[in-house]
Amino acid sequence: MKGIILAGGRATRLRPLTSITSKQLLPVYNKPMIYYPIETLIKAGITEILIIIAPDYSGHFLNLLGDGHEFGAHFSYAVQKEPKGLADAFIIGEDFIDNDDVTMILGDNIFDQDFSDEIKGFKGGAMVFAKQVSDPERFGVVEFDKDKKAISIEEKPEKPKSNYAVVGLYTYDNRVVEYAKNLAPSPRGEIEITDINKIYLKNGEMKVNIFDTLWEDAGTFDSLLRVGNIMAEKEKSKQ
Ligand code: TTP
Repeated sequence: MKGIILAGGRATRLRPLTSITSKQLLPVYNKPMIYYPIETLIKAGITEILIIIAPDYSGHFLNLLGDGHEFGAHFSYAVQKEPKGLADAFIIGEDFIDNDDVTMILGDNIFDQDFSDEIKGFKGGAMVFAKQVSDPERFGVVEFDKDKKAISIEEKPEKPKSNYAVVGLYTYDNRVVEYAKNLAPSPRGEIEITDINKIYLKNGEMKVNIFDTLWEDAGTFDSLLRVGNIMAEKEKSKQ
């Protein structure tokens, strides 16, 4: 299983903080944001990791993270010139993924759970994680039938069919690369990971794990502050 951290993007919602650095290098309490997705992958047993970054501040990532040996991992890097969408990770990562399965995590998604059982148990197809939220219209939304089987996935729907958001941690078999290459851009001009998920769902090859531990998309002032406070409490309770 290979790992990809998608840490490019424009981070317009965090300006002016992101006028001088990348979102994923901003502090979440006592460490840069990107440490969290790195730790999530490593905890799940994934140590071969491609970090996709935007051209601006790319050198800062290298200075901070190096080749990954301090984390007990191996990092490589790729630059995404334009934020073309989350599914672009699998096109940029094609050579890196090679013939393996891949887990992709968003560089601003913060979890506090060990996903190793699920990820080590991955047997092909697609696997995503869903959590109940109060504002599902901001995310990919998954609808379940009465047996908790996923029956639809929609990207940022105006009228969400459930309040389960698909979070930024996705595991796929190797076909994801071909699926990504064949996607047409959505009306907002991006190639959408939700369109990849729809293919797997239609083929009956999508597993959705519901979880209810911490998940923050640290891309707004409020969520960045909230997750910083949560992590501060957690660190202090260890002392
Ligand atoms: P978003 O938060 O959707 O986008 P953004 O980071 O550019 O922020 P904003 O909406 O405030 O302008 O992106 C989620 C994560 O995915 C984040 O870590 C950036 C990353 N990303 C890329 O690396 N490339 C892309 O093409 C996109 C769309 C996102």
